[in-house]
Amino acid sequence: MTVSGLSLQTLAILVGSVGALRALQLFLDFRRLLASIHHLPGYRTILAPSTVLGQMFPPTRGLTLGHDHAWISKHTPFAKWGLDIFSSAAFWPKAKGAMFIADANIIKDIAWSRGGRFPKPLGQYKIITFFGENIVASEGDQWKRYRKIVAPAFSERNNRLVWDATIQIMLDLFDTMWAGQDEVVVDHGVDLTLPIALFVIGAAGFGRPISWKDDTVVPPGHQLTFKDALHTVTQDLTIKLLVPKWAMGLTKRFRRTRVAFDELHKYLTEMIHERQGSQHKEENNDLLSSLLSANDDEKLSEGEIKLTDSEVIGNIFIFLVAGHETTAHTFAFAFALLALYPDKQEELYQHIKRVLPDGRIPTYDDMPSLAYSSAVFSETLRMFPPVGIVPKTSAEDTTLTLTDVNGTMKTVVVPQGTGLTFSVPGLHYNPKYWEDPYTFKPERFLGDWNRDAFLPFSSGYRGCVGRKFSETEGAAVLTILMSQYTVSIKDEPQFASETFEKRRARVLDAQSVLTLAPARLPLVFKRRT
Ligand code: HEM
Ligand SMILES: *[C@@H]1O[C@H](CO)[C@@H](O)[C@H](O)[C@H]1NC(C)=O
Repeated sequence: MTVSGLSLQTLAILVGSVGALRALQLFLDFRRLLASIHHLPGYRTILAPSTVLGQMFPPTRGLTLGHDHAWISKHTPFAKWGLDIFSSAAFWPKAKGAMFIADANIIKDIAWSRGGRFPKPLGQYKIITFFGENIVASEGDQWKRYRKIVAPAFSERNNRLVWDATIQIMLDLFDTMWAGQDEVVVDHGVDLTLPIALFVIGAAGFGRPISWKDDTVVPPGHQLTFKDALHTVTQDLTIKLLVPKWAMGLTKRFRRTRVAFDELHKYLTEMIHERQGSQHKEENNDLLSSLLSANDDEKLSEGEIKLTDSEVIGNIFIFLVAGHETTAHTFAFAFALLALYPDKQEELYQHIKRVLPDGRIPTYDDMPSLAYSSAVFSETLRMFPPVGIVPKTSAEDTTLTLTDVNGTMKTVVVPQGTGLTFSVPGLHYNPKYWEDPYTFKPERFLGDWNRDAFLPFSSGYRGCVGRKFSETEGAAVLTILMSQYTVSIKDEPQFASETFEKRRARVLDAQSVLTLAPARLPLVFKRRT
């Protein structure tokens, strides 16, 4: 044996032993983890579902719960184990336990508990902090400060502004883009709904009115429209997270991502400068002025900490993201459902006609009477919740108590550091709370329903601050559009002979990128005569 051969062999043994020791340690850690959660039934996988790697693969038995597992599986794993909590235990990168929850009482208790007992796992929110620290991806005193700054912008007065801006934007759509057309074909529903939601948040949140015509031209000094920049950024957040800066020039897709991030940053900076230079800044009480006042030394009260420029941009970005895709995707699913179920569409139309018999334009004061419009919006959110999982962690050793499928009281042991994730689809398709959960029944929101089993906006202290904003926008869009147009699925020759079930599955096919989105949704809007 040569000298170098020997050393190679030694090296191999050394590496082998270190590897074996590490594997043994992981195995022992994993056993200890299972014991610590008292072997709560659930998935055993190599990759933790909360890691970027664990999210990259589709659900694969033994490897990872995978991307979108909460949406894909809905309530089925809970039903399988007969309990509205199941566990996930993973080996890698270290032994990690998490629990998924579809029980309304437990979710409510966690969401409303004080004293930092169940904080957000901020590591999982890194993906949305590129433009700066913000209200969604923060905890404790920092979060309190942000929430206090933005809360006044979500007043009753602002909801009225949301309603008026929404109606204006829809009428502008009918009078310009759709003018003179009895039939409008939209190849993918979100091509229509993303701009609607963006224009509403632009107008009502940032005092930045955008018209349908303007939005198609790239302004001087830019390479993309505002809409395209924002859209690409939200689609490509993962690229930005995974690809190092030096590699961003390597492929066309990466370069497109880089341009979109640069462009969006430029737009946001311009928005701030425009407002700072504006004569009317005192009159505005919107989100942008709230954020900017907090960034202005002269406007701070004693003891308040100034928002940095990066915090202003980070928060503007998060409001655009939070208030844009979520609402837009919900509209798209609502149109798909109304198109698939013409009887429900007719019911909505008749309801609107009863509330507005003279055909006048509805105002914010009509909103409480337009209950069926709101019910369609809610039922869509129940069936297609844009945000599928709401993650928390347990800051201490604790227990959770619930009854299983046989009505037996069970106590779940939760060690400190365990991930506690609300499964929104698990809750929304839980037959314990919703009769025929797979059936589109807007009427269920007209009667009595379980408030705690409806979680599209999360709940508790960290619930969505824009909930009323988006419910207002939802009722306005559905009312004005459905009072003047019908919606149907576009007929395409290749699908001419499909069954209703196939058609339904095709048009309702959905995946999450940042939020749940329809895969491909070709629609036709016909003007009512
Ligand atoms: C259908 C539309 C919407 C849905 C489904 C939705 C959903 C949610 C959910 C699930 C959360 C909790 C996220 C978490 O715990 O990580 C949240 C928080 C938030 N949402 Fe919404 N949202 C919608 C519309 C809006 C709108 C229109 C705005 C703003 C104009 C907005 C602004 C926010 C903000 C700022 C937070 C963070 C609140 C905090 O942590 O204090 N959302 N939203
Ligand atoms: C519920 O009861 C059935 C019938 O006795 C049993 O097979 C099942 O394992 C029980 N489920 C749970 C979660 O205990």
